[in-house]
Amino acid sequence: MADNSKVCISDLKNNTGSNVTLSGWLYNSRSSGKLAFLIIRDGTGLCQCIVEKGRLPDELFNQLEHLGQESSLTITGTVRAEPRSAGGYELAVTDAKIICPTADYPITPKSHGVDFLLKNRHLHLRSQRQWCIGKIRHTVIDAIRRFFNDNGFTLVDTPIFTTIAGEEEQSLFEVDYFGTPIHLTQTGQLYLESAAMSFGRVYCFGPTFRAEKSKTRRHLTEFWMVEPEVAFIDMDGLLELAENFVTSIVIQVLKENRTQLETLGADIAALEKIKPPFYRLTYTQAVEILTGTKTKEFMAKQLEEMQNQKQRMEAKIAELDKQQSGQIKQWQKDKIAAELIDLRSELVELDTRIENNPKHAKLAAEFRWGKDLGGSDETIISQMHDKPIFVTHYPKDAKAFYMKTDPGNDKVVLNFDLLAPTGFGEIIGGSVREDDYDLLVKRMELQDLNPENYNWYLDLRKYGSVPHGGFGLGVERTVAWITGEKHIRQCIAFPRMMDKIYI
Ligand code: 4AD
Repeated sequence: MADNSKVCISDLKNNTGSNVTLSGWLYNSRSSGKLAFLIIRDGTGLCQCIVEKGRLPDELFNQLEHLGQESSLTITGTVRAEPRSAGGYELAVTDAKIICPTADYPITPKSHGVDFLLKNRHLHLRSQRQWCIGKIRHTVIDAIRRFFNDNGFTLVDTPIFTTIAGEEEQSLFEVDYFGTPIHLTQTGQLYLESAAMSFGRVYCFGPTFRAEKSKTRRHLTEFWMVEPEVAFIDMDGLLELAENFVTSIVIQVLKENRTQLETLGADIAALEKIKPPFYRLTYTQAVEILTGTKTKEFMAKQLEEMQNQKQRMEAKIAELDKQQSGQIKQWQKDKIAAELIDLRSELVELDTRIENNPKHAKLAAEFRWGKDLGGSDETIISQMHDKPIFVTHYPKDAKAFYMKTDPGNDKVVLNFDLLAPTGFGEIIGGSVREDDYDLLVKRMELQDLNPENYNWYLDLRKYGSVPHGGFGLGVERTVAWITGEKHIRQCIAFPRMMDKIYI
């Protein structure tokens, strides 16, 4: 028979005054000798459980008082509203059963270095930060599927083993397929173009692989990408689709994950501004911005602000150092130690940004029409805007073979990148596709690709070719932008990077 008193922490709000049992893990605790405060997590939230000496057998009180972090247990008590405690409710404990007592859990509430946490990712996933990000990622993925399913798109699962390159050949991962060298997919796009000629509006959603020799905060070697592809669409239609799509993701996260966004310190007010229309810039306009005086002034102002921020942080560190050497309780010392580790690592990052500012300003000022925009160029443009920005019409020679040449200007293609605002950078890449057989073959040859390897793809231009296009949105980059997380490795449970693959 089901035990009706068993509830989840997220359900406590419906059980005020009742005696309930929670099952979970000890997240954190402290004791005054008479009262033990246990923070329990159960996967749905956190709850402070108050154990009063005398209300339980002494032996049990003792065990609970000294229970190690991440011990698993069931705990029973009366629910009461307490606005000051995490989650807004707490439990006045009447009983508890320890399932697996734990000693020396390696990740303490104090801060740890990035490498240590990545090596312990199987445990670090239990931290509040990773939990909040994981919940938001879940919503992002749900919103993605909902948007396409509600707008007449059919899901088509494209293969992971592929024989042709969709993006730069240098970033292909080779696989030995029963003696034949093939690749892990970089994009489902080429297959999706074929499916669009059957279903009209399609999308694929899965892991993609790029052997990027890049260790930046925006690159993984395995990441999740959703790619819609639409028959009979033009550039304006694509941009409209992309802005409605991104807006729908942000709206759903704001609706379902406000508390997680707050815990992460995400900029909720900035997210609330995300509504169509997004900004639209051509690549040529973006180059004018980068090389203009506005950018020069912007970068100088930014440098000054960062230097002021550095001074404030150093003063705060000095103050905390002083407090820590004073006569304070151990738990206060631990709290300050954690704060200091965070502040010092933020300071290291700030120093890097201060150091990079003049380099990036120089790169921007010297940018010449024809190159692809670099990561720092995208960052600058995105820092100068408070809503996402479409950058369109890139130089043909800097872009993939499948992008359609602009009929009005044969130096550029009908493509776009969508840059997330306030410094995050590119989250979407897309284009109208070259639908003319001869022009496509020519583009392949110019890029040293052998058209014979693309026979089936070229067939699509022989049999009922139509204007069509689509785009790809990176899930980890989108989650990082929404949550305000600096590095996309935090936005997937088990990240794969060029120099890091621990578990
Ligand atoms: O701009 P990309 O390379 O576009 C394509 O792959 C097209 N075939 C998509 C299409 O038109 N159907 O990649 C699209 C997005 C990027 O904007 C970025 O969000 C993400 O995929 N992305 C990465 N994310 C994490 N790590 C990497 N190494 C990534 N490379 C691309």
